[in-house]
Amino acid sequence: GYPNLAPTPPMGWNNWSYYQCGGLNEQVVLDNARALVRSGLAHKGYRTVTVDDCWMTKQRGPKGELVTDTAKFPHGMAHLGQELHKMGLKFGIYEDVGTLTCGKFPGSFGHFAQDAKLFASWGVDYLKADGCNVPVPKGQTKEQVYHDLYAQQSRALRATGRPITFSISAPAYFQFAGDAVWHRVIEWSAQLGNLWRGGADIAVQQSTPAAKWKSIEGNFRYNANLADLQRPGRWNDPDFLLVGDAGLGRNEMQSQMSLWAMMAAPLISSTDLGKLSPEALAILGNRELIAVDQDPLGVQGHIVQQDGDAAVLAKPLHNGDRAVALFNGGSTTRTLSISAGAAGLPAAPAYRLRDLVTGRTVRTARTIIARDVPPHATVVYRVRPER
Ligand code: DGJ
Repeated sequence: GYPNLAPTPPMGWNNWSYYQCGGLNEQVVLDNARALVRSGLAHKGYRTVTVDDCWMTKQRGPKGELVTDTAKFPHGMAHLGQELHKMGLKFGIYEDVGTLTCGKFPGSFGHFAQDAKLFASWGVDYLKADGCNVPVPKGQTKEQVYHDLYAQQSRALRATGRPITFSISAPAYFQFAGDAVWHRVIEWSAQLGNLWRGGADIAVQQSTPAAKWKSIEGNFRYNANLADLQRPGRWNDPDFLLVGDAGLGRNEMQSQMSLWAMMAAPLISSTDLGKLSPEALAILGNRELIAVDQDPLGVQGHIVQQDGDAAVLAKPLHNGDRAVALFNGGSTTRTLSISAGAAGLPAAPAYRLRDLVTGRTVRTARTIIARDVPPHATVVYRVRPER
């Protein structure tokens, strides 16, 4: 398989959901990169800064090479990579395995080796390879074609000799193809790369508050169901963290961070980091939730109980603790609970529960309870069996 370049889920920032094509430029990328450093988020692991679609011109150059749009990136991509590296950050870039990107810029189809070499020469550390505009010739299945193109991309990256973390978008293009095909695409994505987008795009910044929450919840639900396809170092990616975006309440931001951490999801912020409220910064920077996400055991949490709109997830951790999250997806306040056994904990005389948001610790003999959980809120405990 592809080298294990992401032993824990990748963390960083990407411009897409906040700025999309229209708002992308060097200034925006560097401002957000500086904000990562200044806020302390980089130090906590948010280090990969990825430039998404629309960074190039509509035509390749005379030698077939990709051409950076210098109206957006006046100093070019090698310079951007250097600036990011000077800040101790990593440089991520976007391309597409089809003939055109989703934004209709040249795709890597037919140019995999050439483009990968160019990226390596720019100091690129991470590639997000999208799957728009893939031509499917008669006589071949869509899955065969995608598999072949992503395999070419994967080989081209390896051939550069530079360690480039590989994010594959293929599964997102098979989410409605039926579970058998969808899951098979995820299985080969896990061979060819380090992480993959399983499904729908998270809402963009201009969406209504309700649409943002709905998309967070929707992406949580489909991604939680893919837990069995995850392996250490091979990550399901349910898309960006919207924490900090206008329209999301504190409980909603906290829930996205908590659920993403429980799912060992990549933690890739896509917001204006220069405008983060102290509350949003504290949520993104919650060290104990980051530690759950980045736990060296590398296991995605599973849903262990569902009751209407409420769900309980459990995630084993390397030191024998278990993270248990109680999520209230409904619209009324509820008390949620699960027995230690049902959450997968071994029998013990008592359990110590540390609330990873409030920092409070309680003991229980048997039942893990979260009292009066407001709508859209999540309580996460780190549970330790006592001897
Ligand atoms: C679809 C992807 O899922 C998004 O994250 C973004 O990369 C856009 N394409 C860019 O066109």
